[in-house]
Order: sequence, then C-alpha cells, then structure tokens
Amino acid sequence: MRIVILTGAGISAESGLGTFRDKGGVWSSHDLAEVATPEGFARDPGKVHEFYNTRRRNMLAAEPNAAHFALCLLEEKLKGEVVVVTQNIDDLHERAGSRNVLHMHGEISRALCDWCALKWDAPVRMQPGDRCPGCGRTETRPDVVWFGEVPYHLERIDGLLGAADLFAAIGTSGQVHPAAGFVQVASASGGRTIELNLEPSEITPFFGEVRLGPATEIVPAWVEGLMGSA
Ligand code: APR
Repeated sequence: MRIVILTGAGISAESGLGTFRDKGGVWSSHDLAEVATPEGFARDPGKVHEFYNTRRRNMLAAEPNAAHFALCLLEEKLKGEVVVVTQNIDDLHERAGSRNVLHMHGEISRALCDWCALKWDAPVRMQPGDRCPGCGRTETRPDVVWFGEVPYHLERIDGLLGAADLFAAIGTSGQVHPAAGFVQVASASGGRTIELNLEPSEITPFFGEVRLGPATEIVPAWVEGLMGSA
C-alpha cells in the first residue's frame, strides 16, 4: 500500500506550537505580508528574522506528540511506502523518527543563501548581515517558503499523489494552495482519501472519510486501525 500523508500546523498544536488561522493563531497577531513574503523581508529583514528566531526557539523547546510518533510507527511497520508531506517548518516529524518527510514549505532549522542557493543548518538566532558559509555574501535567510514563492518538491509530490492508494490530510485548514488541492489530485487518480482534523475544514467535502478530534487521539487510533487491516 502506498500512503501519502499531508500534515499541517494542527499536528504540532498539542506540542505547543501555534497554528495559523485558529482563534489566537499566528496570523491574528502577525501581519502575514510583513513576516512571510519576500517583499516583507526586503523591507524589514530584522523583523522577519526575529519572527522566525522566535519560532525556532519554540520548536527547540517543543517535543513531538503521539500523532507524530504514530506516523513514524506507520512508516516503520506498514508493508509499502509511507511519505509524509508536511507544510510545517518544524522538525517534529524527524524528531519522532519519521524518515520519509518532504517539507514543502521549507524548514526553520535550515538557512538558505539567496545568492548561491547553498543550504546549511541555521543557528538558533539568524540576523541581517549573516554571511553564507559558501559564497560569503549576506543574502541569507531562513530556508522557508514565503507566500508568493514556489513550494518545494511539487513534481515529486504530484507523482506520489498520482500513485497513492490512500491520501490522508492531518491538521490543515485547507486554505493554502497547492496543498489544499492535493485531495482532489489523489482522488482523481483513484486513491482513497481521509481527513483527520479538529474540526471541519474548507476541504472537508472532498474527502471520502472524515474523522474529527485532537490529532494526539485520532491519529494513533487511525494508524492502529490501518496496521490491523494491512
Ligand atoms: N488536532 C488536529 N487538528 C487541529 C488541532 C489538533 N490538536 N488544533 C488545530 N487543528 C486544526 C485546525 O482546526 C485547522 O483546521 O489544524 C488546522 C490548522 O490550520 P492552519 O492554522 O491554517 O494551518 P495550516 O493548514 O498548516 O496552514 C497552511 O499556511 O500560513 C501558512 O505557511 C503556513 O504552512 C502553513 C500554511
């Protein structure tokens, strides 16, 4: 069985990392255009670095939860292929042990040189003027995909969705494309689809099955059921 699992901020919520669009979410206290666009970074790089420095610190203080661990178990035990495609820039899937993870929106633990495209492990605190360890220039930034930029791994993800027997989306509001359209790509190719989320999302009507509840409860239960039936 080939399974593709899309994850969003909701899977890390119970690890203490904030979601974006829930009440009190990141976008209710920060202006997306200021901190998550190339234009915002060009205007005020210090502010953008501070935003991601805080999120990096929060990530380092957080621990993976039962939902992250369940996905690792699925990858280890299921006969077939399990790929996690995450919109999250945290590293909680990796710290739970998952190995097959594609970060379509980049990773807060990595830095990128906009000049020579080198990537390296980001220091806990990045700041304007940081030099690229490769070319020495200062066009350095967190390796995250901002609004208006093209997400990573799209060709590979498209191929995986086309071949998936099962597509699952966990903890995402379905408001950001292209990830919001993955369910339709997977079902157009004949894959079964399931949504696991705290509450109905924008894309709930497109799924064959929906389970509602906190990720730490519904994801381990779903994984147990899958392994029992495989
Ligand atoms: N368990 C399961 N789902 C949860 C939980 C939980 N404990 N807590 C919240 N959720 C659900 C919410 O109901 C919501 O549908 O997770 C979803 C989070 O939605 P968003 O905050 O919009 O996060 P996400 O879908 O990951 O956002 C996509 O937008 O700005 C960005 O780049 C950022 O990658 C992010 C993208």
